[in-house]
Amino acid sequence: MRLGIVGAGFVANFHVTALKSVRGVEVVGVTALKGAEELAGRIRREDLGKGKVFANIADMSREVDTIAIFIPNFARIQTVEEIAANSSNLKMVICEKPLARNVTEARKMVDIADKSGFKTAYFENQIFMPSVLKARGQLVNCENAMGPCHLVRSAEEHGGPHESWFWDPTRQGGGVLCDMGCHSIAVGWFMLTPAGQSPTYLRPAQVSAQTKLLKWGLGTWKAKLLERGVDYNKTPAEDYAIGTVDFTNPDTGQKVTAQFTDSWMYDAPGLRLLMEAFGPGFSYTVDSLQSPAGIFISDAAAETANAELALEKSQSSRGALVLQPNEADLYGYVGEWQDALNGYRAGENASLGWKYGLEIVRLVMASYMSAERGAVINLQDPKVLEELETYIPLIQQGRGGEVL
Ligand SMILES: NC(=O)c1ccc[n+]([C@@H]2O[C@H](COP(=O)([O-])OP(=O)(O)OC[C@H]3O[C@@H](n4cnc5c(N)ncnc54)[C@H](O)[C@@H]3O)[C@@H](O)[C@H]2O)c1
Repeated sequence: MRLGIVGAGFVANFHVTALKSVRGVEVVGVTALKGAEELAGRIRREDLGKGKVFANIADMSREVDTIAIFIPNFARIQTVEEIAANSSNLKMVICEKPLARNVTEARKMVDIADKSGFKTAYFENQIFMPSVLKARGQLVNCENAMGPCHLVRSAEEHGGPHESWFWDPTRQGGGVLCDMGCHSIAVGWFMLTPAGQSPTYLRPAQVSAQTKLLKWGLGTWKAKLLERGVDYNKTPAEDYAIGTVDFTNPDTGQKVTAQFTDSWMYDAPGLRLLMEAFGPGFSYTVDSLQSPAGIFISDAAAETANAELALEKSQSSRGALVLQPNEADLYGYVGEWQDALNGYRAGENASLGWKYGLEIVRLVMASYMSAERGAVINLQDPKVLEELETYIPLIQQGRGGEVL
């Protein structure tokens, strides 16, 4: 795979770390509004490919056969249109989560890909977490004998995003539900899906959710956001979301439930992914903050520390700290690249293509609709599905004050 990357921020850097553990990708270069020189330098130093800086997508497209979109959510459509206009050499286009801010935009992404003819990969790393996959593999005989899981709980929580555009619901698509609910809903759906079935085998039946602004709307915290150019008096977004998505097994009619929790107010060591799955007679748990490694930094040494090197979204640089030695593997980034490569080599989409990304956007939008209306959203009602096609949550419209 001859890869070109659009965007050179947080996640692009994470992926470059992941690519150190993946064979068969030459990282030809990067184009970005900011940070391309630094990322390209890393790519060259770490011997991952030519690591050129390109002025734009058109120039990059001439030298690559795959493009990865690692830019903010509000720039997706414009970027994909530019890629499509220069797509004659392209085999695959990869897009980070969420595919888009709403169903209308997500469908546009899918349509552009269909018309241009390139294969797609939707990057949902949590489905490739080795701990989730290993637990499922270990339990497959139990599952085949006893039946699939009927309840899962999945949570992603941290103290809040690193860049101000994430906090602006009009640019990002919402608050923590759009940003991280897409992960928790996707991995929940996957953990419920019977072994060997496709990621969309279980049929979404109904969604019930709540969105809340619990911490970042409070005086001092709101003031901290204002210093970063984000005004939660005018355009607030949710920092907490909980909900359930119920699914139906199309062959047996069995009803199963995925419960999700997402928070930007997790004042704890750093990013935590917590999953629990319950089947008839068996279960498994994943907790990303459980590590065999730990460090301690005294007050005297704290000024010299860079806590983020130990753990994503680390909130402290002193005391006893969690250390994760290989986050790119732990969170599933390495696995999603290997999966994309399998698709690329076979001339197919990755196992999660953009149409799957569209389904996740639909479930996230149904969750906003449920929270906004205080109602359970029936996903088997054709009228509701039609409404979701053009639905823009009030929070995404910048009218979060009416519901939070
Ligand atoms: N899988 C995960 O867990 C995960 C984690 C973080 C971010 N993400 C996703 O990755 C995407 C990027 O997030 P990030 O944290 O890297 O953001 P970021 O703000 O750290 O970096 C964004 C990069 O894109 C560049 N950029 C912005 N607009 C551009 C444009 N129009 N053309 C070219 N470059 C442009 C910026 O200059 C910067 O280099 C988001 O969609 C986010 O949801 C996923």
